[in-house]
Amino acid sequence: MTIKHIFVLGAGTMGNGIAQVAATSGYTVTCMDIIPAALEKAKSTIGKSATKLLEKGALTAEQKSAAEKIKFVGNLDDVPQADLVIEAASENPELKFKVFRDLDAAARPEVILASNTSSISITKLAAVTKRPDKVIGMHFMNPVPLMKLVEVIRGLATSDETTQTTLEVCKVMGKEPVEANDSPGFISNRILCPMVNEAIFALQEGIGTPEAIDNVMKLGMNHPMGPLTLADLVGLDVVLSVMEILQRDLGDDKYRPCPLLRKYVDAGWLGRKTGRGFYSYQ
Ligand code: 3HC
Repeated sequence: MTIKHIFVLGAGTMGNGIAQVAATSGYTVTCMDIIPAALEKAKSTIGKSATKLLEKGALTAEQKSAAEKIKFVGNLDDVPQADLVIEAASENPELKFKVFRDLDAAARPEVILASNTSSISITKLAAVTKRPDKVIGMHFMNPVPLMKLVEVIRGLATSDETTQTTLEVCKVMGKEPVEANDSPGFISNRILCPMVNEAIFALQEGIGTPEAIDNVMKLGMNHPMGPLTLADLVGLDVVLSVMEILQRDLGDDKYRPCPLLRKYVDAGWLGRKTGRGFYSYQ
């Protein structure tokens, strides 16, 4: 099936980035969120990002105007017209299972349902649908317009055809897909989140200030940003949720979330998106 129309469910940090890249790559895009304020914020974020990329010559004027044509909606009415659905809802397993049941009921039977989940089992998501062969992980990286990688995760029942089509869509979007098997955290978050969690332990234990911890990793290991700055970018709630899933599903306490991470999440200090995390963004 030729993919022309992509329905992105979720207009948050990842959803709006995916919608933007899909639109500037030539797809017709509908972006849905149940929270009207999230749709407003997504519109403004996409506008600013596309303007910046145009200024830098990374987007053409046509691509920028394609980003302006994204349709923002508050329900699933457009799903039957979509040729591919990419779910980017909050990282909450029960919510994702419900969303997949709803999408399965609304989408045409031949349509692929992809999830941008950062850690939930694709096999489990597939199992709540009547099309497990057409469910796959498309794990984009933040910030989506700048990062090359899409981790493509096959569930147990995902077909070769679904994988092939998904890899092609990633390439049309200008991304480099890398295949991973379905295991908690896949490849990216199995490695990244324990590193970030360890940096938070280092902070909790007073081994260094946030700046010192980040500078060691930036200047000593050539990471583009330090782990605490990265946690603020990704969202502390996302890091916590990944660590909880790693600990539970791999049954190993080496993945226990740092208490300081939990405390920050309890306080609503989730990073850039709330104006405060390990650093202040007021
Ligand atoms: N759209 C357009 N432009 C953007 C942008 C966006 N969404 N985000 C940042 N930029 C622009 C900035 O405005 C800046 O523009 P300027 O040069 O005109 O000032 C430019 O990009 C460069 O940004 P910075 O100066 O802030 O700094 P960097 O050179 O460090 O580049 C970065 C930014 C590409 C984000 C780089 O720091 C980086 O690669 N960081 C690591 C990101 C990373 O690891 N992402 C993966 C996270 S894990 C994940 O997402 C998985 C999840 O499941 C947890």
